[in-house]
Amino acid sequence: MATSTLFNNFNYTIKLNIMCLSLNRSITLVIVVLVFITSTCHVSSRRSRVLNEETMLHKHEQWMARYGRVYKDPNEQEARFKIFKNNVAYIEEFNSQNQAYKLSVNKFADQTNEEFKAARNRLKVSSTRILAVQIASFRHEDVSDAPSSLDWRTKGAVTPVKDQGPCGSCWAFSTIAATEGIHEITTGKLISLSEQELMDCDTNSEDHGCEGGYMVNGFEFIVQNNGINTEAAYPYTGSDGTCNTKEEAIHVATISGYENVPANNESALLKAVVMQPVSVAVDASKFQFYGSGVLNGTCGTDLDHGVTVVGYGTSDDGMKYWLVKNSWGTDWGEAGYIRMQRDVEYKEGMCGIAMMASYPTA
Ligand SMILES: *[C@@H]1O[C@H](CO)[C@@H](O)[C@H](O)[C@H]1NC(C)=O
Ligand SMILES: *[C@@H]1O[C@H](CO)[C@@H](O)[C@H](O)[C@H]1NC(C)=O
Repeated sequence: MATSTLFNNFNYTIKLNIMCLSLNRSITLVIVVLVFITSTCHVSSRRSRVLNEETMLHKHEQWMARYGRVYKDPNEQEARFKIFKNNVAYIEEFNSQNQAYKLSVNKFADQTNEEFKAARNRLKVSSTRILAVQIASFRHEDVSDAPSSLDWRTKGAVTPVKDQGPCGSCWAFSTIAATEGIHEITTGKLISLSEQELMDCDTNSEDHGCEGGYMVNGFEFIVQNNGINTEAAYPYTGSDGTCNTKEEAIHVATISGYENVPANNESALLKAVVMQPVSVAVDASKFQFYGSGVLNGTCGTDLDHGVTVVGYGTSDDGMKYWLVKNSWGTDWGEAGYIRMQRDVEYKEGMCGIAMMASYPTA
């Protein structure tokens, strides 16, 4: 299996010419002149570095105000500023390359990639777990004439994007999104269902609320429990709790079982997605600053995040993609969604998207 290419190297030198965005014209002019002088004569570099530092401080303050971020003391603020500065430099450098997708200085901009992954990507999939995926039956094998593009949102089978917060409950969000999908497809009713019930009441030894779990176990819980309650009745708290057995006993949506999609096969994944939203595991190490476009290029296959494929298509510039619903709020990615390259040259799929896909059955 390919080892992941994480972008955990944030030692980017700060480019002199990328810090002018929020300054007024006159200061911008000064910086442009300074950059010109610096880059041609290698003088005044110290002065422009000071100016850039000020610009960046201003940018950090604006960002803090926008996202309501408050630090506990000046030490923390300084440490966070350093991380922010490195991230912004990395993002602006990446975006200057005219890639198929853009990064964004989003709400995660003051976290290192390690911190970010530790807080929310808690789907820990071992290689033995992947090898253990059994394909007892694949009911969508005979699907033919798949449309060239499909979006389950426009068919009314996808609830609004949710936000797991700093809690490793992605597995519950993925389980629930796929369950909401099959429930709508079979009953015509789109109902937001409860992740918290899964987190609190699923006693499978592999599932641990904010500390991670597996989508197939989530489906198994819903089967064994004879259904699951609504988000409204059993709302998300973003932390581990004890099972509310009264709400657990109310079964608004049911499933009869679940199946795995034949692994490492994007054609099989497509057949499943034609029929319903599908839970998938991905290596989300490149997700932190994703802004828009189709995520392509190198990515790891260390599966650490659960999301839901809710469609597919081809972008304006001809790149095939999977349409993926995430659970990091609407202020991440494309209003909470990410498009990931489809039909890549390696069988695991982009970021391992075809390695461990599953779906509930009605
Ligand atoms: C991939 O899946 C398709 C559709 O289910 C199947 O027809 C094909 O044989 C599979 N390919 C491989 C290499 O397993
Ligand atoms: C991603 O797509 C863009 C646009 O097609 C291309 O220029 C770039 O080389 C691709 N990246 C990789 C690493 O394949």
